[in-house]
Amino acid sequence: MATPLKVCVTGAAGQIAYSLLYQIGHGDVFGKEQPLILTLLDITPMMNALHGVVMELHDCAMTLVKEIVPTDSEEEAFRDIDVAFLVGSMPRREGMLRKDLLTANAKIFRSQGLSLDKFAKKTVKVVVVGNPANTNAMICSHFAPSIPKENFTALTRLDHNRAKAQIATRIGVRSDAVKNVVIWGNHSSTQFPDVSHATVEVEGKTLPVYEAVKDDAWIEGDFITTVQGRGAAVLKARKLSSAMSASKAVCDHVRDWWFGAPQDEWVSMAVMSDGSYGMPEGVVYSFPVRVSADCKWAIVKDLPISDFAREKMEKTAKELEEEKKTALEFLASNSS
Ligand code: NAI
Repeated sequence: MATPLKVCVTGAAGQIAYSLLYQIGHGDVFGKEQPLILTLLDITPMMNALHGVVMELHDCAMTLVKEIVPTDSEEEAFRDIDVAFLVGSMPRREGMLRKDLLTANAKIFRSQGLSLDKFAKKTVKVVVVGNPANTNAMICSHFAPSIPKENFTALTRLDHNRAKAQIATRIGVRSDAVKNVVIWGNHSSTQFPDVSHATVEVEGKTLPVYEAVKDDAWIEGDFITTVQGRGAAVLKARKLSSAMSASKAVCDHVRDWWFGAPQDEWVSMAVMSDGSYGMPEGVVYSFPVRVSADCKWAIVKDLPISDFAREKMEKTAKELEEEKKTALEFLASNSS
């Protein structure tokens, strides 16, 4: 049998992890032949709850999980890991300003970046889920300079899946008939869900989504605002944020990164911007990416961009630049 992969999940006592850990342990991400060692990080007050999660994982009697290490120590959680799912973060409390949330999480992700730099394998692959996910990923990478920048990504796959599902429902096809939607920018309400390059298969024919939907006003209006506001709508209805769909999206993101995505399709991933499409370098921005079987992603280049799209892509980039400035200025004046 293969050597176990060492995989860390943070926020392991939280609600996303509750679904995610089962899917990882069941082989939905790294395959049904890959044994795993799971390290589970949460904060000290959550250790009792985390022990409950560990009991349940044992009770699943999963054959791939060789060892489970619950801990409140970043060193123990990150030592020699191959993959990090950074789900844990400080939640937004009532009365908290966006800036307070940003700075509280900047401290967490600085600490985790420093620890990854010290303790994880240099090949570690990191997906940041905890919000504000893009800026947390940027901070984490900034404080882990010995790990390549391309190893840090943030999750916008949930928004990508939401966009596919909205289009599929509108046309009345399966969601896998819809290909090449793009989420540009931040995992926030400024994100731009774009279907101008997307296609859909209807009755054996591949059509541009605009042609199949036949309602440009819907695509450029309600479709965009529905995807942008979907997280808030779920939160309002459930009184809890998206967890089942979030953990499914995390699995999609990492499985495609690990094994490669179908070559006739791209996926949305927030990655360190290299200035593609004129977006600012050094922010973690969601782009369309192709992923090859050797775990390498590449931004899809040279898609034609309309004025309508460019304005939206720039708006979400501006928000990311502001978040970066706020977070780095705060950290510079708060060294511990
Ligand atoms: P939750 O509140 O149920 O769980 C979060 C867990 O993180 C808690 O157990 C908490 O103790 C832990 N935690 C806090 N600080 C930590 C630290 N420094 N180290 C390790 N663990 C820490 O939240 P849930 O629903 O699991 O969501 C987790 C995060 O994912 C939230 O920030 C949420 O906004 C975000 N999210 C992101 C999505 C995306 O598409 N990027 C989609 C849905 C949620």
